[in-house]
Amino acid sequence: MPDTDVLLCASAALEEKGKAHTFDVLHFRQSATAFALRFEGQVVAYLNRCAHVPTEMDWQEGEFLDRDKRYIICSIHGAVYHPLDGRCVTGMCGRIGLTRLDVQERDGQVYWTPSRDTRPAFED
Ligand code: FES
Repeated sequence: MPDTDVLLCASAALEEKGKAHTFDVLHFRQSATAFALRFEGQVVAYLNRCAHVPTEMDWQEGEFLDRDKRYIICSIHGAVYHPLDGRCVTGMCGRIGLTRLDVQERDGQVYWTPSRDTRPAFED
């Protein structure tokens, strides 16, 4: 199946360390959500699934960063992840970290390139 980039949102919609853009995906054919946010100028995206317990992490929809806006924090038990690579910094997230999705910015828009494992929800 050829990968076609999926338009997520306008670049301007992602403010530095602001609210994330959330979107629906199929991860190994199971419904899930994912999110994209801007951190230190870069747009990064991850599956919205904690490495501790496979549950969504945002404390309000689209709110993933801690109070100081330094890390992604899971609202359930407080696992802390680095925003730029999704690795576990502290807490019960172990070595796995977050599942990263491939996103790029071009022409003022943010695009996601689906992988074999994580597909657009509308393909189902
Ligand atoms: S579910 Fe995220 S830290 Fe436990």
